[in-house]
Amino acid sequence: MAFAYSEKVMDHFTNPRNVGEIENCSGCGTVGNAQCGDIMRMYVDVDDSGIIRDVKFKTFGCGAAIATSSMATELVKGKTVQQALEVTNRAVMDALDGLPPVKVHCSLLAEEAIHAALWDYAEKNGLVIEGLEKPKTDIHEHEHAGVA
Ligand code: FES
Repeated sequence: MAFAYSEKVMDHFTNPRNVGEIENCSGCGTVGNAQCGDIMRMYVDVDDSGIIRDVKFKTFGCGAAIATSSMATELVKGKTVQQALEVTNRAVMDALDGLPPVKVHCSLLAEEAIHAALWDYAEKNGLVIEGLEKPKTDIHEHEHAGVA
């Protein structure tokens, strides 16, 4: 193997948390990485007080993408929308005890997927979430992820 994964990465890859879908979710978003073609879809269920009660994901991608999306869901669950925005790809990587440099972009997908789901939630509810920008790689409304 050219590089080693941490035990936490292997754990979240082999036993990912919060895999699935949320029917009638408050928000969901799909993002993709045009270079590798991997796709991640994130669903959030947000209650009236702005707490993320549930979060699920589906990732069609590499092991690091699966591990980072799993950890990202664990980090945002039970948090407020504002707190979820602080779950950056760096925070996800730190929680996983790091990723090999060539796999850092996979963790960006997890951050973008959370943002895409929250963006959808905000749009559906006519909210402006401070600090949240429209995800660049959102492929929710376009079927293609683009070509590198
Ligand atoms: Fe594509 Fe990891 S190689 S997300």
